[in-house]
This record gives sequence, C-alpha cells and structure tokens, in this order.
Amino acid sequence: MKTLAKKFEQIFGTTHETTIFSPGRVNLIGEHTDYNGGHVFPCALSFGTYALVKPRQDQNYRFYSLNFEQEGVIAGTMTTIVNDPKDDWANYPKGVIDVFQKQFGTFAHGFDILFYGNIPNGAGLSSSASLELAMSVVLQEVFQLEVSMVEMVKMSQKAENEFIGVNCGIMDQFAIGMGKANHAILLDCNTLNYRYSPLDLNGYQIVIANTNKRRGLADSKYNERRGETTQALEILQQETSIHSLGELTNEQFDALAHLIADEVVRKRAKHAVYENQRTLAAVEALEKKDLAHFGQLMVASHVSLRDDYEVTGLELDTLVRVSLLQDGVIGSRMTGAGFGGCTVSIVAKDQIEQFKEKVAKAYHEIIGYAPTFYVADVADGTRVITNEATVYTA
Ligand code: GLA
Repeated sequence: MKTLAKKFEQIFGTTHETTIFSPGRVNLIGEHTDYNGGHVFPCALSFGTYALVKPRQDQNYRFYSLNFEQEGVIAGTMTTIVNDPKDDWANYPKGVIDVFQKQFGTFAHGFDILFYGNIPNGAGLSSSASLELAMSVVLQEVFQLEVSMVEMVKMSQKAENEFIGVNCGIMDQFAIGMGKANHAILLDCNTLNYRYSPLDLNGYQIVIANTNKRRGLADSKYNERRGETTQALEILQQETSIHSLGELTNEQFDALAHLIADEVVRKRAKHAVYENQRTLAAVEALEKKDLAHFGQLMVASHVSLRDDYEVTGLELDTLVRVSLLQDGVIGSRMTGAGFGGCTVSIVAKDQIEQFKEKVAKAYHEIIGYAPTFYVADVADGTRVITNEATVYTA
C-alpha cells in the first residue's frame, strides 16, 4: 500500500484520501447460465483491483493505471464522457461514470485515481468487472450516494453492456460486488435472489489454472452463443409460456427438445437447461459435504461446455484432462466465458505442489507452453479499505 501511495503522489503531485479494493471472481459451476435465466455459483477472490482516490476541486478527472503505464495519465472532464478507443482501459471507469451520471445527474467535481490490479489480465477472472465495481464504489464513497451494492452491480453491468458494448450477463459484477469471504454465492439470475453457501472444503482448496491462451474470438463467439439460446427460447415460447430457459427442468426440456429442429441450437439450449439444474444439484452436494459429488458435477459441466455449448477448445480440454489425472483432484472444469482463460480445480491441500508440477509438465508437452497457477482465497466483495490493515496479494 505504501508503494501505491507513493506512486499516487509522484503521478498526481498530491496525496490520496481513500482506497477501495475490488476483487476478481471465479465461477465454481453454472456457466453460460446467467443470460439464460439460470443459476450461477461464483465467489470473489483475494486478488483484485485497488483504486486510490483524491477528489478534485474542478470537474476534471485524471486516471492512471500501474497495469498500463504506457498509456500514461488519461484525463478528461465529467461533462463529456464518451467512449474513446484511444482511452483504452479507462473506458471501463468512464462507462460507470456515464451510467451513474445518467441516474444521479452530472457530478459537481472530478477526481484523481490511481488503479492497480493484481488479477492476471485476460485470464477470464473478470478484471474488467472488478474495475467497474471499484469505480462504482469510488462514486458512492466520494459523493456519499444512497445506492445499494445490488444497484451498483446492475449499473456496472449496464456500463459494460451499453458503454463498452460487451453483452455480458450479471454474474461477474454480482460476484465481485456481493462476494463474501469463505463463501460462494448461489445466484438466481432470473430474480437476483441469492444466498451465501459456506465453502467448507475440508482439506481441499480451489486451484485456478490459466491456459495462457489468448482469447481472440471470445466476444464474437460469446454473442453467437447468446443468439443461439435466444433463438431456442423463441421456438419453445411458441408452445410454452416460459420467459427463460432457466425455468425448465431437464425432463421438461427433453419433452420439448424435438421442437428445435436445428441440432446445434438444440444442443446449446440443452446445455443452458442441464447446467442450471446441475448447479442446483452441485450446491446441494456441497452443502451436504458430499465433495466427491460436487467434483463429478464440475466434470459433467465441463463435458457439456465442450460437447454441447462448444466453448472450450484444445487448451482448456487438455488442462482439465491432465488435471483430472492427478492424485488428490476431485473436480476440474473451465470457468468463465471459455475459448481460453482459466480452469478451476478442487485439489487436496497436501497435493497442490505436486499437482502444479505434473499438470504444468503434461500441459506443456501437448500445448507447447506452460500454464500458470493461482491459489486464491475466497474474499469479500468491493469495499473501502482505507483503514484496513490487510493487504491482499495473489
Ligand atoms: C462471462 C460473462 C458472464 C457469464 C460467463 C459465462 O464471464 O461476463 O456474464 O456469461 O462469461 O458463464
């Protein structure tokens, strides 16, 4: 924190007043279900984004990110917030300001903000949603806004959908804003009802592994999948009164599946329905302390994402396959949007070192480069940490 404070002074020539921490997230199960009205089961991580803030007297803002030092200080005025490709990463916080100003009116002054994130960039652990929620809490704190965390979650998603133009669901922002230490969140994305479930892994730990594959086509493929499940829903709506695929049980879907003539579209819809039911079963297994069954459902989730939803690819499939061959592993699957990014595995604590070594070697032999591992704690959601002694590290 001292280094960050010093850096703030160097860049902006003044001292900061407030520090905000916003975590990254990992989803344990329930993938590509959020925008299909289903359930997800993510948790917030102990690594994330720091924002050091000092309000200004005028209406200008100045942003600086230690992760993108080559971009330098990105400055502008609160009265003209528009998406500008040359502002690069800063379009995320700008998008949040835009959404907030549309709701609360133009803010009376701007601020200087130094951002620093230790979420591996491009790993699919939601560095962008982490940044959005950090900015939301900056605004709430600086302007003492009467706005709940769930509202900030929705406004952050809106910034991503409308200002950035990425059509993501609600999962990432919700997990990051509403995270709770040592708990995962069972969220019904249809109603936004949620509950916390203790992550009592009893001698096991969550290990995240990054394929280190660049996620080139992720956004366009993501939108393509959204289109396919929307198409499936519209077909089923001709015969049923459902509002989302998440309302169907597996049996109900099987009875209706023949209505969807296109095999690909049918498979996509099947994943959305089955994955939602699988998520509910997985949470039940975890709460009954049946970790083995939870692990089996993680594997079934991966298989469905590979064969029916087709969002995995050689790197993710290889990483999951070699992970499952190791001692002490009870489950492994891709996490996040897919097409690269990370896997999440549940590994016996005393086997983690061996797991990393053996998986790295096997993956490297097949793919030609090594994966990266992160053993993270499950942490609280976005918050002001000015007076907190704890410094979180990856
Ligand atoms: C990305 C999106 C989320 C969700 C996942 C897939 O992370 O941002 O909304 O759809 O992919 O589960």
